[in-house]
Amino acid sequence: MRRLTRLAGAAAGSALLLTACSGTLEPGQNDGDVLHLALNQTESHPSYIALDHWGDYLEEQTDGRWSIEIYPNETLGAQAEALQLVSDGSVEMAIVSGPQLENLNKDFIALNLPTTFDDIDHQMLVLGKEEVVGELFNSLRETNNIVVLGGFTQGNRSVYTTFGPVESPDDLHGKKLRVQESELNLAMAEALGASATPMAYGELYSGLQSGVVDAAENNEISYATQRHYEVAPYWSQTNHLVGLDYLIINSTMLDSMTPEDRAIFDKGWELARAEHVELWVADTETALQQAVEDGATVTIVDETIFDEALEPLVDRFLTTETQLKVYEGARALSEKEE
Ligand code: GCU
Repeated sequence: MRRLTRLAGAAAGSALLLTACSGTLEPGQNDGDVLHLALNQTESHPSYIALDHWGDYLEEQTDGRWSIEIYPNETLGAQAEALQLVSDGSVEMAIVSGPQLENLNKDFIALNLPTTFDDIDHQMLVLGKEEVVGELFNSLRETNNIVVLGGFTQGNRSVYTTFGPVESPDDLHGKKLRVQESELNLAMAEALGASATPMAYGELYSGLQSGVVDAAENNEISYATQRHYEVAPYWSQTNHLVGLDYLIINSTMLDSMTPEDRAIFDKGWELARAEHVELWVADTETALQQAVEDGATVTIVDETIFDEALEPLVDRFLTTETQLKVYEGARALSEKEE
């Protein structure tokens, strides 16, 4: 397995010079390593903070034998590249958004639909149910050497624009809406009345600034930490989707851990997930306040108009047996279900 041992430098366009060595990792024998983790968020984002604390915990509990080195701000490339790096083992871990995994296995669509999760609590409940997500999370082992360890919420996603409030899909007519790179997301933009432009997260600020796109959709925390409100100051509270990020790890690395170290690693990840939810709730409130103080306008809209526009995606995109099983398993845990 090829492993990253030293980052020789990051050049423009995030091309990295990696010095890799080939060493074998025997299952259950590894009692120490540096786990490099690719992230596309800033250091003030809840995901960075919770992951950083996970690294501290791991280091403390293993007397420094294991550690996590986070590369934020797409330093190791956008999520599509990070996925590839984890798959080939040159980077051990990454946070990637649901749509990225949908590109490797369509069954992940079941957890990417606008109607899958009611809210963060429901989402976290589903992610904790091995019988619902267990198979899916291990489905990339054979094909891509990737295991999904679990998820971080992306909270509710809403629409924001450079040109004015969006109170119904009509307001997006003829406008270019940036979406994450996946078939479902392209269809979502069209269902919302817009013309879809897939684009990596890190390119979006300049995309909005230069007019390559007119609008985007994300949560309050990304809107604030990426400072998108500076170039797209119209936030419309559509709450059209509860998004999901995944923590992925190279399966050879995961399997190499001694059972004792694996238990510490898992415990730290559990603590990180709990901290993430707490930070998420607190930061969501302050993020929008900050954006408003800096000139953003918030428009409260009738969310049901957007929900109705997106509803047909469920039947269109749920086609495989596994998708239906996962989706129905998730919905059965909703308080809204009888
Ligand atoms: C959120 C999410 C990221 C994702 C981004 C996007 O910020 O947490 O993982 O990349 O949305 O819209 O691309």
